[in-house]
Amino acid sequence: MAEPQFDDIAACVFDAYGTLFDFASTVARCRDQLGDKADQLNTIWRAKQLEYAWTCSLMGRHSDFWHITGAALDFAFEALGIEDPALRARLMQLYLDIDSFDDVTPVLEHLREAGMKRVILSNGSVTMLVSATKHAGIGKLLDDTISIEEAGLYKPHPAAYQLAVDKLKLPAHQICFLSANGWDTAGGAAFGFQVVRVNRTGQPAEKLGVGPVAEISSLSELPALLGL
Ligand code: LAC
Repeated sequence: MAEPQFDDIAACVFDAYGTLFDFASTVARCRDQLGDKADQLNTIWRAKQLEYAWTCSLMGRHSDFWHITGAALDFAFEALGIEDPALRARLMQLYLDIDSFDDVTPVLEHLREAGMKRVILSNGSVTMLVSATKHAGIGKLLDDTISIEEAGLYKPHPAAYQLAVDKLKLPAHQICFLSANGWDTAGGAAFGFQVVRVNRTGQPAEKLGVGPVAEISSLSELPALLGL
């Protein structure tokens, strides 16, 4: 990995789902109803959600992340032979009331005390992100929450990352971008951010030729990495 230049970082920009919010927690809360299909549902749902986002942007037919999340869930239900409108409604509501990881609040508090700007940049719709940050109680710990809806193009398209540069009025190299999603770390690095991968589950490095300058397994490691 390249030698990180973390001495000139003026803001931390966080991906939301998988990085701050635990999308697997939605299915975990319904394990009693899903039984042995729970893990498959989580995997298919997330994979289709991302696939549909990328496909919509490449087709030039934008659809917001709430609609895409519902469509991906419908695919996963059909693939697993699940027909249960009440369960669908419960899972979608849980996506709005999604759990944040335990390391999120402490790191945002630490960064705030250190005077570091803290922003979310996510594919999530505004409604999804407002609900998630409120439910997690982190809204007051953030300087801004940016949905790619303003660009109408999903990450890793550069127009999505440009939203953070425009809102923060900072050059990309002064932004530390954090994501748990390998494809997103490649996109952020290609755009010009100083990228840190939050590799909570020990995934292999992506083979995309561009990627993070550092990797952490928990957000609790971030302050030390930034010298804060
Ligand atoms: C997001 C998803 C893609 O928050 O992780 O943008």
